[in-house]
Amino acid sequence: MTKILWLSDLHYRDLGDVQGHNPRIRLEAAIAHINEHHNDAAFVVITGDMADNEQSYSALAKQLDTFSIPVLPLTGNHDSRDALRKSRPLPNNCMDDFVQYFVELPSFAVICLDTKKEGSDCGEFCAARRAWLCETLADLGDKPAYLFMHHPPMTLGLPMQDLLMMQSGDQFLDMIGWYKNVKHLFLGHVHRPTAGTIGGLPYATIGAVSYQAPAPNPRWDWDSFSPAKEAPQYGVIDIWNGHVTLQYTQFCNYETGVHS
Ligand SMILES: [Fe+2]
Repeated sequence: MTKILWLSDLHYRDLGDVQGHNPRIRLEAAIAHINEHHNDAAFVVITGDMADNEQSYSALAKQLDTFSIPVLPLTGNHDSRDALRKSRPLPNNCMDDFVQYFVELPSFAVICLDTKKEGSDCGEFCAARRAWLCETLADLGDKPAYLFMHHPPMTLGLPMQDLLMMQSGDQFLDMIGWYKNVKHLFLGHVHRPTAGTIGGLPYATIGAVSYQAPAPNPRWDWDSFSPAKEAPQYGVIDIWNGHVTLQYTQFCNYETGVHS
């Protein structure tokens, strides 16, 4: 059995808060919990929105260095792709112009996709990234592939956030449908745990390390947005013989790092 840890949406800042939450305290709590309970994991994947501004990446890198297991970062709409690339070592197979790469293990592969669209909070998946993914999936043959990415390629029924998904997500889903070795999507961006299937393919989203989005009802919009008073979480993913389990795990209470 192989264990993978999953975090999302750190929204790290070297100074100050984000939506009334201290992102440094939240990340510190997550790392301490993981180091205590999951030293046996292969690595931790962080599905984007690593930092909120360019000057925060060096401080973030120092804090990520306190993980006892390797860290695989992804880029989200809030990230600077260049700053992220400079701040963290990335696998040798990473694309030159994107934060897109894969890690191959004996019985499966984890593929980290770059869905950032410059100058937009929506995501995209351009021709270069599509070609890389098709080649990678074809090269893996029958080996199962688990895809991690920031922007969901479909709507999820969440207010406002459904306006900020990957553009042309249907084309992306059609494309990965050609490859029977794609087994699961793990998606960031929405700051809320959901799970389901799309065209028969299982997917999951996860709550943020930073602040949580409210539930769909009562309806809300950006003018009335206020983070949900819910505790943050990370995911523990166990994979063996094609079997996948995801345990959503609370690592601190809601009040940790919250300025009321
Ligand atoms: Fe986010």
